[in-house]
Amino acid sequence: MERINHHWVVINGSPRRGMNSDRLIETLFQTHAFKDSEKSVFKLSNLNISPCSGCTLCIDTKKCVKPDDFHMIIDAIKKHQRMILISPAYHYNVTGQMKTFIDRLFSQHAFASEGYHSRLGNDVKAILLGVCAGDTEGMGYTLDAMKHPLEDLNVTILQSYMYLGTKHLPVSANKKLLVELERVFCRIDTRE
Ligand SMILES: Cc1cc2nc3c(=O)[nH]c(=O)nc-3n(C[C@H](O)[C@H](O)[C@H](O)COP(=O)(O)O)c2cc1C
Repeated sequence: MERINHHWVVINGSPRRGMNSDRLIETLFQTHAFKDSEKSVFKLSNLNISPCSGCTLCIDTKKCVKPDDFHMIIDAIKKHQRMILISPAYHYNVTGQMKTFIDRLFSQHAFASEGYHSRLGNDVKAILLGVCAGDTEGMGYTLDAMKHPLEDLNVTILQSYMYLGTKHLPVSANKKLLVELERVFCRIDTRE
């Protein structure tokens, strides 16, 4: 069987354009593991995604009833089964944009009456990236805030990576980053 490179659905929680998170994604896709892969980037701050209102109608309707851009991200995840979530630390946690996206994932749980499963699919794999100005303490819960909700949806976390210290060494000035990412992500199989 011919092996094809995965298409990655990138969900970017940084509201800033062209800064550390955007550049980290660009550099990741220059690594050997990813350079032949395709990607669809969803910059959450550019999209219209409202917060979960807790109506829980999705339990019966089997999808979120809010008609906004959330659905195009979900469709892409269901289609490609590979995702990268990236968020800066904002007060030791993900940004509000990322939290809003994660809360809306509640609609992707099928509960007991249907037999528990994830509506995202059976083979979803994810990479998590956290970015912060400080050290690991400053990163706080950022990676866990993405990891636990995804694992609850049976998503396998392939790799988590923290870019620390943007205050002293922004991604744009880090000449060793590509080498570092090559080392960290060398075992990721981006082909099926
Ligand atoms: C509202 C706000 C809260 C922040 N909270 C933290 C924090 O808790 N820990 C930390 O290390 N950096 C914190 N930062 C710094 C950002 O994580 C850092 O500047 C990061 O590089 C931003 O990512 P970006 O360049 O992709 O936007 C905060 C920045 C803002 C604007």
